[in-house]
Amino acid sequence: MTHKILILNGPNLNMLGEREPEIYGGDSLEAIGVACQHRGQTLGMSVDFRQSNDEGELVTWIQSAAEDFSGIVVNGGAYSHTSIAILDALRAVGLPTIEVHLSNIYRRESYRNHSYISQAALGVICGLGAQGYLLALDALARIVEEE
Ligand code: DQA
Repeated sequence: MTHKILILNGPNLNMLGEREPEIYGGDSLEAIGVACQHRGQTLGMSVDFRQSNDEGELVTWIQSAAEDFSGIVVNGGAYSHTSIAILDALRAVGLPTIEVHLSNIYRRESYRNHSYISQAALGVICGLGAQGYLLALDALARIVEEE
């Protein structure tokens, strides 16, 4: 069976490339999505890469992930720091989840130092830019194989 991985991106990540490139890097979200598709192919997994500015839409996608997906990679953007709803959805679904942030949220403003999503994540990768998504896929490939 080919494992399917859901990659979720939260608000403002659609603006990557133009948005504060000194913090988030010059890659567009589309380019990161293509790189994730390639890494998924190498790992023998299929990748569904999505973005929403809407907290409720992210919650709905997480809720319906259990039927189709083996794991989740999530960059919740600013919702990471505010959303108990996204945390609850991830807990309810219980899929292995890796949290990713492009920037190192621990080197930044204090309001970014805490993520609710981390409480539902097996692991957290931050500060490594777009590479973090690829590392998260590598980790999930192992985790879902071992399950
Ligand atoms: C981010 C970090 C968040 O604090 C911020 O709100 C984002 C992006 C990151 O990938 O570094 O939108 O999740």
